[in-house]
Amino acid sequence: MSKTREEINQTEKDYWNEGKLERSKIKKLRRHAFFYSYKREKKILNKLLEDFNGQDVLEIGSYTWASWFTENIKPKSLTCINISEVELESGKKHAISKSFPIKHHLMDANALTFEDESFDIVFGGAILHHLDIEKSIGHVHRVLKPGGKIVFLEPLNMNPFYKIYRKLNPKERTPDEHALVSSDFKIIKEKFTFDHYFFDFFSVLFGFMSLKFFGDKNYDNWINKLGSNLDVFFSKIPFLHSLFARVIIYGSKK
Ligand SMILES: C[S@@+](CC[C@H](N)C(=O)[O-])C[C@H]1O[C@@H](n2cnc3c(N)ncnc32)[C@H](O)[C@@H]1O
Repeated sequence: MSKTREEINQTEKDYWNEGKLERSKIKKLRRHAFFYSYKREKKILNKLLEDFNGQDVLEIGSYTWASWFTENIKPKSLTCINISEVELESGKKHAISKSFPIKHHLMDANALTFEDESFDIVFGGAILHHLDIEKSIGHVHRVLKPGGKIVFLEPLNMNPFYKIYRKLNPKERTPDEHALVSSDFKIIKEKFTFDHYFFDFFSVLFGFMSLKFFGDKNYDNWINKLGSNLDVFFSKIPFLHSLFARVIIYGSKK
């Protein structure tokens, strides 16, 4: 029998409040595979986040903002929501040093309680895939002002190689999360116009070779650089998008 949304929310809350995920195995590979992707991701996000200046911004599944906002990003206001008390408290610690107003709410992103058209921008890092896409995207659309923007960074689950990896390593994820597949994009497309940047196919294969060759050090090397360059090149070819492991989606409310 499938779980209710309340049961899924409770599991998510427990996982994040109690720090139940086990990600130590993948960390070594990530240090190689994502060495250059993270730099590319940061550069792209820095550019996209310039739009956040002077705007009313909502982050769902906070507190990504603490690492995404460089010194020159100053929204008019930032509202942070999370279903986990612990995650929300961690975000509050970062908020102390910021010069713009930040509010925190314990809230389910599948059922936002803000008024219609409250925000100029809604964003999040690795959050949509923990949610009911139809419900959460409906709420994101509702709380955005006309022409309001979205920015999301999400994992993908379209490449059979990643599907197998995920099946073999269930403890790295919460039980009900689902990295995005093409049907999720169709739902987003109903309410938003958007474009993407794709990350991490060759960088993962080459990162794996680099880890075998160098061990858990010397991440800044030619193998990882080649993997990353191949990703940049092949990510421009639409029919190869399903190979990739992560995506930045950025767009506007229809
Ligand atoms: C993969 S983490 C990402 C956290 C943060 N955005 C980041 O990038 O580090 C997923 C986050 O989603 C939150 N979350 C899960 N279900 C949620 C829901 N229904 N509403 C709001 N937040 C939720 C979790 O508590 C957790 O903080």
